[in-house]
Amino acid sequence: MGQRTFTIIKPDSVGGNHIGEILTMIEKAGFRIIALKMTYLSRSDAEKFYYVHKGRPFFRNLYLFMTSGPIVAAVLEKEGAQDAVAEFRELIGKTNPELAAEGTIRKKFAASKTRNAIHASDSDENAAWEAAFFFPDKEIIDTKYELPLPEDEIDSD
Ligand code: CMP
Repeated sequence: MGQRTFTIIKPDSVGGNHIGEILTMIEKAGFRIIALKMTYLSRSDAEKFYYVHKGRPFFRNLYLFMTSGPIVAAVLEKEGAQDAVAEFRELIGKTNPELAAEGTIRKKFAASKTRNAIHASDSDENAAWEAAFFFPDKEIIDTKYELPLPEDEIDSD
């Protein structure tokens, strides 16, 4: 299992001014943001992104909702994770917010199965496909930081 996953902060969370709080919960849980963008899904984008759900009874509500406002897409990395996809799904909570555990992102921000605040990939393979849907390789960035000089030198002036 891998150390990366992919997420979308959905239009209800963006419109509700919760981007910062959600990203804070993600970072506090030990995930590093290695790609990030605010964008919109067109209907055609949403149909491609959610093609596995085409034909499901909730598909119309899903694409109408996901195209209703801006979203924030991100690729996440958790160093040392056995299974970042599973750990992140724990953090966001169940699709149905009534069933989401206390302390999860959906418990805090989701209103329903459709307006459910956040998306997470469900496998390593889908995480890689979903990340590539939004980000070219050069926009996925190693954000671990190392000073170019020893601390006492860079702070010496
Ligand atoms: P998401 O993680 O974005 O992936 C698929 C989405 O379909 C899911 O979140 C829900 O928002 C949406 N959806 C709506 N109704 C249902 C349902 N009954 N079962 C599963 N997913 C649903």
